[in-house]
Amino acid sequence: MADDSAAAPKLYVAPSDAQAFVEGVLQGNGVPDDNAKTVARCLVAADLRGVDTHGVNRIPSYMARIRQGVLDAAAQPTLTKVTPVVAQVDAHNGFGFVAAHMGMAHAIEAANVYGIGMCSVKHSNHFGMSAWVVQQALDAGMMSLVFTNSSPALPVWGGKSKLMGVSPIACGAPGGKKKPFILDMAPSVAARGKIYKAQRRGEKIPTDWALDAEGRPTDDPAAALQGVMLPMGGPKGSALSVMMDVFSGVLSGSAFAGHVTNPYDPIRPADVGHFLVAIKPDLFMTIDEFKERMDYLYRRVVESDKMAGVDRIYFPGELEQLTQERRQSEGIPYVEAEIAALNAEAERVGAPAIKISRAR
Ligand SMILES: NC(=O)c1ccc[n+]([C@@H]2O[C@H](COP(=O)([O-])OP(=O)(O)OC[C@H]3O[C@@H](n4cnc5c(N)ncnc54)[C@H](O)[C@@H]3O)[C@@H](O)[C@H]2O)c1
Repeated sequence: MADDSAAAPKLYVAPSDAQAFVEGVLQGNGVPDDNAKTVARCLVAADLRGVDTHGVNRIPSYMARIRQGVLDAAAQPTLTKVTPVVAQVDAHNGFGFVAAHMGMAHAIEAANVYGIGMCSVKHSNHFGMSAWVVQQALDAGMMSLVFTNSSPALPVWGGKSKLMGVSPIACGAPGGKKKPFILDMAPSVAARGKIYKAQRRGEKIPTDWALDAEGRPTDDPAAALQGVMLPMGGPKGSALSVMMDVFSGVLSGSAFAGHVTNPYDPIRPADVGHFLVAIKPDLFMTIDEFKERMDYLYRRVVESDKMAGVDRIYFPGELEQLTQERRQSEGIPYVEAEIAALNAEAERVGAPAIKISRAR
């Protein structure tokens, strides 16, 4: 769970104030109102869940891409039905959040009628934390698969230079009385966003996360960003990142095989692809039976015998949901440098500064 009491003093922002702030900055940069709401909701959702690496702090880098002309603030995605259960969204180089939201909404609609819905998204951009798309499906009572590709950061197994993305694999299933299942994981030891966050906050990183440009383990985030991320589980993590590229890149018609552009590279559009599936959970039994079975699984997992030193066992996604419950009431903690960078973005476009509710 995100430790909000750790390290540097924090400035707390109420979720509704974070939402209003992000909407203002986005609108000031030419993002249509509805799209600004969607993007802001997804970024605030990441901060609420403690996925600070993929939240509101991404605003300066996204706005830089708009200014550089490599992300189209005003783009509206378009959807083409391919079969009754399959659709394709062309993001037209707009926000990944908006395109993926449209794609999952359509997949849910199809799943409601046919049991399953699938949407492939092309010419998109970074959509941040995959779990918000999983949550969109959960809110409609659906199971989901949420894949994306991303820019090179990881060597393939046996390779030494960046080729595959640290592309998260995510999926979810509704629970009954217990928490839903939400898996959202990068195929690297740690998400690259955690290195950017450590760099922003002047912190060191564990030495098993990345290698520097000379191929040596490093605890320096700047040196790590010059080198490569390490895959989780050796060849298995590497294979999962290839899998994300097959389903999100090859299949969609977007960039793949190392050609997605890094979100911090101003040279050209990112051309990210996503792959989204919604599945109705009561295809083979009643919904009550499904939920009872999920709750049974939950109990079996969290009540499992604990290894030495472990106080509590969590279901996948549970830690983030607990953080969300806490931050909903306490507010979202940021450090001063992050607030300064966010307010600088607001100032550029004459949007209101972020409202701080308390400091600690
Ligand atoms: N859009 C992109 O290109 C991109 C790229 C990389 C990462 N990301 C995002 O970065 C985020 C972080 O990824 P990550 O791999 O660092 O996540 P993580 O390692 O923090 O968590 C991975 C998964 O493990 C579960 N988990 C973690 N600790 C647990 C515990 N003690 N008990 C039970 N379950 C536990 C989490 O609930 C989660 O489902 C994700 O939201 C991902 O979508 C996005």
